[in-house]
Amino acid sequence: MIDKINELIGRVQAFKPKAAAEIEEFRIRILGKKGELNALLEEFKTVAPELKRELGQKINELKTLAMQRVNELKAAAAESSAVSGPVSDDLTRPGTNEPIGSRHPISLVRNQIVEIFSRLGYTVADGPEIEDDWHVFSALNFPPEHPARDMQDTFFIDKNPDILLRTHTSSIQVRTMEHQKPPIRVVCPGRVFRNEAISYRAHCIFHQVEGLYVDENVSFADLKQSILYFAKEMFGEQAQIRMRPSYFPFTEPSAEVDVSCNLCGGKGCNVCKGTGWLEIMGCGMVDPNVLEANGIDSKKYTGFAFGMGVERIAMLKYGVKDLRLYFENDIRFLNQFDSVL
Ligand code: PHE
Repeated sequence: MIDKINELIGRVQAFKPKAAAEIEEFRIRILGKKGELNALLEEFKTVAPELKRELGQKINELKTLAMQRVNELKAAAAESSAVSGPVSDDLTRPGTNEPIGSRHPISLVRNQIVEIFSRLGYTVADGPEIEDDWHVFSALNFPPEHPARDMQDTFFIDKNPDILLRTHTSSIQVRTMEHQKPPIRVVCPGRVFRNEAISYRAHCIFHQVEGLYVDENVSFADLKQSILYFAKEMFGEQAQIRMRPSYFPFTEPSAEVDVSCNLCGGKGCNVCKGTGWLEIMGCGMVDPNVLEANGIDSKKYTGFAFGMGVERIAMLKYGVKDLRLYFENDIRFLNQFDSVL
């Protein structure tokens, strides 16, 4: 009998389950009512009294060991299944679908803008978000007292020399002119920062795509046609544009561009405030001072520039009424752009 007990102890020690279910089977086989331990206890009743002491101890040892082993194995299995999930033996079962994320509407619209201009021969230029006064203001003909330089609008990181968060991506145009001779045809997408109160129509962080075209004989008519082409590609063939005189330090003449309201078709609605027009961007002919400040001969070359807010274009295109939605990462908002490429 002692051999039987020892053999069983050996088996308990060596037991390694391949699946969690085997542990319970093992417990029933050894410790269950009709299990091997009870069979031994039955047999124990019949052994000679002088052997009872030694065998009894051995059987107790076996019982404690088997219980300990089962508990240990069960705890380990519970832990590993908590990490890897329930184990299925059916390898033919169809897998569960992992939801695929969608692109953010701002990325979608930025990509569309860049893509439309790339068809007109524009390439993408990039630049830093932390800039100096020269690239954001001085090289763009901002007079020293211009309010945009003020602490009200600009987030300054350091004064003297001025280090700041760029307030527009025109700074990339300056950087492009620094190391490229005309013809220049670039679009500059990027994140910009302005010290503004956050509301449904303004945010202190937003995105722009600006463009610059410098070559011989570039005219305002070229600018107008390029913007009209863009508007039709972005908002549909029926889109019309109009230009209103405006002012920017770096362009002369300057204009504000409106596109016909794509919600009411120009009849007037609450989105266009009854006017039939929506403002989409600023633009103008590059001021000769800007060309000269960047080492380009303004007698030989002319150019135009334009700049638009990506959030604004996306709001108009998709009828989004509150700009803050773009920053809240609410999955119910973002999922609506699942099918847009
Ligand atoms: N930089 C201007 C802005 O941020 C936009 C603009 C770009 C206007 C180019 C004219 C020409 O508002």
